[in-house]
Amino acid sequence: MFRQISRGVPSFKNIRQYHLLTEFARPLSYKNSSKSYSNLEAQATHESYLQNKYISVTTYQEPKNKIINQVTKNTPSYFSRVFNKIDEDIIFKTQKNFTNDESNKKVNLGIGIYASADGVLPPLKSRYLPLSGDDTFLMMSEKFVFNEMCIPNMFKFQTCGGTGALSLAEQIIKFNRTQDVTYGIPQPTWPNHMQIFKGKNIFNDIITLDFFLSKYCKDMKPPNVIVIQTSCHNPTGIEYTMQEKTEILNYAEQNNVTIIFDTAYLGLSGDFDNETNFLKMAVKRNIDFFVCLSYSKIADVYGHRTGVLFFRPKKDLNTDYVKANVEQLIRTNISNTPRYGSDIMMEKFLSSEEYMELFKQKIKEMADRINVFRQKFGQDLENNGIPNNIKKGKGMFSLLRLTPEEITFLQEKYHIYLLPNGRINICGITNKNYDYLVESIIKNHREFNNI
Ligand SMILES: Cc1ncc(COP(=O)(O)O)c(C=O)c1O
Repeated sequence: MFRQISRGVPSFKNIRQYHLLTEFARPLSYKNSSKSYSNLEAQATHESYLQNKYISVTTYQEPKNKIINQVTKNTPSYFSRVFNKIDEDIIFKTQKNFTNDESNKKVNLGIGIYASADGVLPPLKSRYLPLSGDDTFLMMSEKFVFNEMCIPNMFKFQTCGGTGALSLAEQIIKFNRTQDVTYGIPQPTWPNHMQIFKGKNIFNDIITLDFFLSKYCKDMKPPNVIVIQTSCHNPTGIEYTMQEKTEILNYAEQNNVTIIFDTAYLGLSGDFDNETNFLKMAVKRNIDFFVCLSYSKIADVYGHRTGVLFFRPKKDLNTDYVKANVEQLIRTNISNTPRYGSDIMMEKFLSSEEYMELFKQKIKEMADRINVFRQKFGQDLENNGIPNNIKKGKGMFSLLRLTPEEITFLQEKYHIYLLPNGRINICGITNKNYDYLVESIIKNHREFNNI
């Protein structure tokens, strides 16, 4: 599928990121290697951090003889030949025809919805949505993310949260294909990614994006798909710089690689426009991509499973075929999208530009609350000899570089719970528990390190 041409080394000199990810990723390696780090090792990590670990960055070598698969701008979309003409779902097609019929004599014997002998529908106002979801909700979501509506060639489907969007993207990628898909997923990541994106060659040992790109280049085996968290990276809190975003897009464009933008924390960095800019940049590129938007966290609709899958193949595909094929996948998975979440989103947040602005302000308030605690918590730990990257991160998560023993001890002795890889949710820190939390972590750290 790919024409292989050797070309120069892509300059991916994201020193800062290499540094940050190496640092952040450390606790995960404790877990993956099933090896416990001794106090000494943990201390060494802390010390080297204190001595300014930029050393690890400057000594990082680009692998030699990098060859990457470059494709011309005219390469067909990865999705060009997968969607075939199929019949629309007959029940929903009949319903659509009925709805569009303007006759006042019309009678609907199609869809299976109960009505009384007087033709009155039950009072519970929750009718089926169209298979692709609520059109207005989808349009307003497009406006929310891209600040535009009806972007050419942008398909939109309502999903059960961000997870539903990721799973649907995975199914579209596999659709009508026999060969395995290779996913590139920078590590560490949200664990569910590894369960959703099962390919033959998942690169599950990737620590940094630099390493990810160079590993791919070295092996001359491109992932077909890379999974990129748009912002507020879970679990590290990393934000890509503009240069890094450009590198990612260049990489995808030059190698005919599809991008899945996992967008579960939009705006929680505090800079909504900067975050969405990444996605708007993708629209201008010749790239196949998906945006998996979750409203769970930002709109507090966790339980209503509300999300959107945006699918923008780089070439104009037959719109009817794409829609019908994806709708068939939706029909098979969930039959019909739940609507309570999208109804709430429309009622409270998305129905007008004014509401949308208020929604963004609300997200900004959440981000500000997080950022205040990031600064305070990070600084207090640092002042007490516990190095961390909390202040540099954005969004809800950060990794605390603690050993598994320290983490267990924190839980058993101080009743402080965090994930075994050191991931903390900054939102768990409140005015009320702040002092207790900081004191306990410091005490715990001193006990463990005999300070
Ligand atoms: C990185 C990431 N992507 C996607 C999701 C899925 O969100 P949802 O609850 O809407 O399915 C989460 C949720 O924790 C997440 O952390």
